[in-house]
Amino acid sequence: TLAVRKKIEETREKALQGGGQKRIDTQHKKGKLTARERVNLLCDEGSFIEYDMFMEHDCDDFGMGASRIPGDSVVTGRGKISGRTAFVFSQDFTVFGGSLSGAHAKKICKIMDQAALVGAPVIGLNDSGGARIQEGVVSLAGYADIFQRNVMSSGVIPQISLVMGPCAGGAVYSPALTDFTFMVRDSSYLFITGPDVVKSVTNEEVTQEELGGAKTHTTLSGVAHGAFDNDIEALLGIRDLFNFLPLSNQDEAPIRRCDDPWDRDALGLDTVVPLESTAPYNMMDVIKGVVDEAEFFEIHAQYAKNIIVGFGRMNGRTVGIVGNQPKVAAGCLDINASVKGARFVRFCDAFNVPIITFEDVPGFLPGTSQEYNGIIRNGAKLLYAYAEATVPKITIITRKAYGGAYDVMSSKHLRGDINYAWPTAEVAVMGAKGAVQIIFRGKDTEAKEKEYMELFANPFPAAVRGYVDDIIQPHVTRRRICQDLEMLATKKLSNPWKKHGNIPL
Ligand code: COA
Repeated sequence: TLAVRKKIEETREKALQGGGQKRIDTQHKKGKLTARERVNLLCDEGSFIEYDMFMEHDCDDFGMGASRIPGDSVVTGRGKISGRTAFVFSQDFTVFGGSLSGAHAKKICKIMDQAALVGAPVIGLNDSGGARIQEGVVSLAGYADIFQRNVMSSGVIPQISLVMGPCAGGAVYSPALTDFTFMVRDSSYLFITGPDVVKSVTNEEVTQEELGGAKTHTTLSGVAHGAFDNDIEALLGIRDLFNFLPLSNQDEAPIRRCDDPWDRDALGLDTVVPLESTAPYNMMDVIKGVVDEAEFFEIHAQYAKNIIVGFGRMNGRTVGIVGNQPKVAAGCLDINASVKGARFVRFCDAFNVPIITFEDVPGFLPGTSQEYNGIIRNGAKLLYAYAEATVPKITIITRKAYGGAYDVMSSKHLRGDINYAWPTAEVAVMGAKGAVQIIFRGKDTEAKEKEYMELFANPFPAAVRGYVDDIIQPHVTRRRICQDLEMLATKKLSNPWKKHGNIPL
């Protein structure tokens, strides 16, 4: 009837207004977009289909019965990103501070379930004052319902979180469980307890920004994988990331039309590695020289910079890239670098993304701080991740491959499919100086060092034993990787049945 039709229209209109113009203005004044503006920027124009605009909270305590807003405090639905389906939820700070009611949680769970059912990623845009205080335990139950789904979907569909406002208390654990967490600088923060509680418990004085802002989480804690300057850049950045990823663990990464010839000679690479074996260079030059159109989506760019991880494409198809960075701490593996690398390798393996490793590693970082904090247990994570990975694995030793770190970095012995050495490669137990000190106790060191260098500081000891498949000129690296990936596209390898492995944590 006419009355029903009118009510539908009015309710829809009310949902679109969220918490009302005044609160929308406040949101804009903070430099933040509204929940729906964000969704519309994230998805291809006009592609977003909203679910549950009529759903309301069912709380009558503390006067809540008198204030219900259709759709409650989250916008949910599905849309397309570059033509491929993504499920999205976007918390609406203008409605009860984006706080999580039972209804809010149900809306999120509904799209998470459907995403898992059809095999499409979930992108969460977080902007919330946390648990809906008026609803008490119902709200806590809602968080747990979401966490359980995050865990069940882990390794099944990609899950991405973009924190665009407050995210505190229990709310932080959903982003933490997803594959990638990004933040917006100056307008977002993540912490378990805010500055007031910190002050009362530990007597520390700390601002919200220092405690849980983008800088803290991208450089110190590693909780966030990256940060953007504002909402628009963040949403466009997430689109870029999405375009590298398969929709699920049953899907292949999309192929992007590539104008960069697969057999291009990467001539710049022939002079990247300095003659002096201790001189630093930038591994990013190697990565960008090899991938399609020098395009690289770096993950954790500001954290544990002694290792580089991120996505690129080879002849149009997504690859995960891991590279030691000789420019930072000589490219040593330490606790943070190991954990960063391990998590990335596991993502790639879960989602069938081949892994290319560029290796120049003088070993694990020595010291009490590393040992006391468990470099053994943490370094083992990277080793475990590479060893269990069944995706195509290609390794290029650009210079040093020393000690245990040689084994760890996708060596032949950990089922590396194709392993190359550049002519500058040095595969050995350790550097010449240290080695000679130990075997000869400081006697006649100069001559012995020279002997050790001649014997070990080159690719031959590894090549004669088949530990590398070939010694290649740097400029052919791109071509060889493309050929190898083509061959490896039909690789089939699975690990023994198990409930799950027991990666050292
Ligand atoms: N439950 C219910 N309502 C909430 C809420 C929550 N957790 N968090 C915020 N709101 C409401 C506020 O009451 C306010 O309502 P109003 O617009 O009708 O006045 C609105 O959301 C906006 O909040 P406000 O405090 O004005 O925004 P702000 O930008 O100044 O501050 C926060 C944002 C998140 C710092 C602040 O709202 C806060 O501390 N919230 C509680 C956080 C918390 O402890 N959550 C529970 C633990 S998980």
